Amino acid sequence: MEDKLAQAYDAERFRREGHQLIDMISDYLAEATTDRNEVRAIPWQDPDKQLAYWQQDFQQPLQENPNELFKDVLSKSIQVHRKRYMGHQTTPTLPVTILSSAVTALLNQGMGVYEMGMVGNTLEKILTEHLAQKLGYGTEASGFITSGGSLGNLTALLAARAAATEIWHKGYKEGIQLAVLVSEEAHYCIDRAARIMGLGAEGIIKVPVNEKFQMRTDLLEAYLQQAVSEGKQVISVIGCAGTTSTGSYDDLEAIAAFSQKHSIWFHVDGAHGAPAAFSPKYRHLIQGIEKADSVVVDYHKMMMTPSLSTALVFKRGSDAYKTFSQRAQYLWVEQESEEWYNGGKRSFECTKAMSALNVYTIFRTYGDEIFRENIERLYGLAADFASLIRSNKHFELAYEPECNIVCFRYKVEGELTPLNQAIRNMLLEQGRFYIVQTVLNGELYLRVSLMNPLTTIQELKELLQEIEEKAVQILAEV
Ligand SMILES: Cc1ncc(COP(=O)(O)O)c(C=O)c1O
Repeated sequence: MEDKLAQAYDAERFRREGHQLIDMISDYLAEATTDRNEVRAIPWQDPDKQLAYWQQDFQQPLQENPNELFKDVLSKSIQVHRKRYMGHQTTPTLPVTILSSAVTALLNQGMGVYEMGMVGNTLEKILTEHLAQKLGYGTEASGFITSGGSLGNLTALLAARAAATEIWHKGYKEGIQLAVLVSEEAHYCIDRAARIMGLGAEGIIKVPVNEKFQMRTDLLEAYLQQAVSEGKQVISVIGCAGTTSTGSYDDLEAIAAFSQKHSIWFHVDGAHGAPAAFSPKYRHLIQGIEKADSVVVDYHKMMMTPSLSTALVFKRGSDAYKTFSQRAQYLWVEQESEEWYNGGKRSFECTKAMSALNVYTIFRTYGDEIFRENIERLYGLAADFASLIRSNKHFELAYEPECNIVCFRYKVEGELTPLNQAIRNMLLEQGRFYIVQTVLNGELYLRVSLMNPLTTIQELKELLQEIEEKAVQILAEV
């Protein structure tokens, strides 16, 4: 073998570097949990400076040991394990999944056919059927794991279309206008999925929300009648559990009743909030989910799994086989048969990561209980944070939070959007806290997703204090 290849596959070299890396990661995790005051959740850097740094790095002589590179990457990246990371819905991955990820990378299973993912395909069946039971489905329910909520939602809508039309086989015929009914607060991937499917802007019927940012289900009938009168065929109604901006849970019982009455496919985007199924305390939020034809759940949001890992569960497991019916002679002989073990028959991907191992490892190590704890801890912390905000006259909540997403703003006389925007920019540049922003009813709010179970009310008190200091500073400069 040539020198470079022999060196690159040398097991002893790997052993040395691997041990060093594990020490480095362990130090990183230890520091994340102690969280010294000066440590930043985001080492913010301007994109052009970041680019210049890495362009220069790329020209450097070859490195002896990749750990130098990893150290650099760690120090320049947002750190989701920090207690003051409270931004987007990205989870601080459980340390055990860092180990399972290494095994996944080593095995590099293809997953499309059984031989190329014997364990992985089997784990997907076990995990999605377990999740189906938690969601309240019967024994017919089953699913698989796909690469992210966006792809999961697209796949579910393709299944809805396959149930209602023959477009997969015959293509669009002149004059057909398909449509979906969805809350105006749904994640943008639903809109994107509908456009990918050729529905266009006309086919995405956005149902207004109430003051809690939940779909106005009382308007569903009128919106459907309007769509029908315009010659549209509604192929799906989509419920959110919960929404991205505010974490609001739609009334799934009401949507289920509507979908049953009109025989319209009911899909639930539970990417963020469906894991409430693991908590007896919060289960009520998803009441009615068991009546949905399909549900998407991101393991990589509230279930502490590395990205990407999304369950797509069907009420009738056999529906999953209708989505992509194609011939691929080199992978499987018979397309129409339902072979759960040939993953590629139901998923968009051909080659796919064996992310099921990460999820399975968590279940086998900590059981359902860890998901109950995580949900209850984070949803409970958000309720405590909301009380803190309510008791401070300088702040106001945008709504009463239902889960771990809280939107609020600093409040004084005058224009609040530019002030809160300036506060958020200052926080980002300073980097001690990482929070984000969102626009609700045309006004900008600060947005916190409490994803880290190690975050305490203490960090949240500090956050409000920091915001007040920034606001005073900004107002003094005007
Ligand atoms: C409710 C909801 N659905 C779907 C998505 C998209 O999921 P993914 O980022 O896994 O593609 C998100 C992402 O934040 C989300 O919050």
